[in-house]
Amino acid sequence: MNILDKDISRVLYTKEQIDIRVREIGNGLSLNFSDKNPVFVCILRGAVIFFSDLMRYMTIPLEIDFMSVSSYGSSTVSSGVVQIRKDIDLDIAKRHVIVVEDIVDSGLSLQYILDFLKRRNPTSITTCAFLNKPAAHKVQIKIDYIGYEIENDFVVGYGLDYADKYRNLPYIGILKEEIYK
Ligand code: IMP
Ligand code: MG
Repeated sequence: MNILDKDISRVLYTKEQIDIRVREIGNGLSLNFSDKNPVFVCILRGAVIFFSDLMRYMTIPLEIDFMSVSSYGSSTVSSGVVQIRKDIDLDIAKRHVIVVEDIVDSGLSLQYILDFLKRRNPTSITTCAFLNKPAAHKVQIKIDYIGYEIENDFVVGYGLDYADKYRNLPYIGILKEEIYK
């Protein structure tokens, strides 16, 4: 039991289901980047739990870095205004970069991040998002590795927050509407 469970209307993916899926993604990435020494970029803060689980399923040489962007405030609707709060530290020129996101909603954040990183001339950029809401996309964006495709519900847990809460829930759940309406 978790005190936060009462705010969840439905569990979408349990801790056990998530673990299996993250392992599959890790296996796929390990296979495809085995001789490339890629740089994994974790988009803080939402992707931190997914990222750390994923890294433990990576079986190849790699490097990690962190970037922080904000686009939301405490609203559940994308503001469309993206801000870089923390840049990566590594030089990614001529490197294979894998951007790891928690969720792609409008797609505006990921698009902004990709444009930002491309200017540094990496050899390749691959996108990996734990969740994807295809019906909410406002821009055309290619996501190479996806954990799960979900409906247009506002979800929390496994790193995802509402007003900076619920990130520590070990599962993905739909937040009760009464919490934010
Ligand atoms: P986008 O720019 O609209 O694609 O939004 C991306 C960011 O919004 C994600 O990295 C999340 O931090 C946040 N976000 C979008 N949908 C949800 C949700 O259902 N729950 C929690 N955060 C979300
Ligand atoms: Mg967020």
